[in-house]
Amino acid sequence: MENKKKKILILDGDPGHDDAIAMVLAAAFKDELDIRAITAVGGNQTLAKTTLNYRKIAALLNLKDVPIAAGRDKPLMTDLIIAPNYHGESGLDGPKLPDPISELSPLSAVELMAKTIKEAEDKVTIVATGPQTNVASLLLAHPELKEKIECISIMGGGLNHGNWTAAAEFNILVDPESMDIELRSGVPVIMSGLDVTEKAYVLPEEWDKFRNDNKVAKVVAEWCDFFYIHLKELGWPGALMHDPCAVMYLVHPEIFVAKDYYVEMELKGEYCRGATVPDYYGLTGNKPNCKCLLDVDREKFVEILSEAVRSFKEAEDE
Ligand code: RIB
Ligand code: CA
Repeated sequence: MENKKKKILILDGDPGHDDAIAMVLAAAFKDELDIRAITAVGGNQTLAKTTLNYRKIAALLNLKDVPIAAGRDKPLMTDLIIAPNYHGESGLDGPKLPDPISELSPLSAVELMAKTIKEAEDKVTIVATGPQTNVASLLLAHPELKEKIECISIMGGGLNHGNWTAAAEFNILVDPESMDIELRSGVPVIMSGLDVTEKAYVLPEEWDKFRNDNKVAKVVAEWCDFFYIHLKELGWPGALMHDPCAVMYLVHPEIFVAKDYYVEMELKGEYCRGATVPDYYGLTGNKPNCKCLLDVDREKFVEILSEAVRSFKEAEDE
């Protein structure tokens, strides 16, 4: 097995239960991913809450040396929309988490992202699992850094439907202009939209299996417990692992089906603002700008996620 280089990673999001599980997954993939920076954005909850949540998750995972910075508290052009119906008042309701073990970076998210990319010895991969405001702000402020970005792996969008309006998925609806900037940037975008993330669910009996394995596993199971409360009311069979898809694809692309399409943003429209519109038949004459994930081997996804969560037992036994 060739000794593959680790991907240098910046994790940007709005924790959020599924953002938190995405971070656990990224930390578990320690042989494949090297988390160099974490940046919070307003989304599921206010920026102050998502920032504090990232700092608490970092404490749970003992990521004391990874800098964490606060980013934009609202979208580029509009007011923030939050989602307490899914994530609660704190943005990460459910299990009690440890207090932060490191200070918040004095840099802004864009400054930390730019510093990380400039100092990196190789190209950097950005995972962005909330509204794309920080990433778009980085691309606007530092166009010269685009060539050092390997790709932007996002959770967001939906090629055929939305989950906050009929046409738009939450992350992209919160800040459609940012997604438009990203799609026009020329930087490779990998889109884990609802087309795949609504197939990447974990069943209650599946997360029960790892609940008592170790302290991280217990917290992940209790995040699933909480996250599933509203999803169950909506009729879903399990907890939707939206954000973990954006991490999982980077290490296990083989369990997904992906297709490259030209995707454009609907920024106007009474009913369709925030829609990610795919050019399936090449009618625009534009080259594809987005690798769109369309399907996933759910059982394999759950197997890998469960194994990742269980891997924290070693740390506990040390
Ligand atoms: O639509 C799902 C997305 O919105 C996820 O990223 C979830 O965390 C929320 O941010
Ligand atoms: Ca999110």
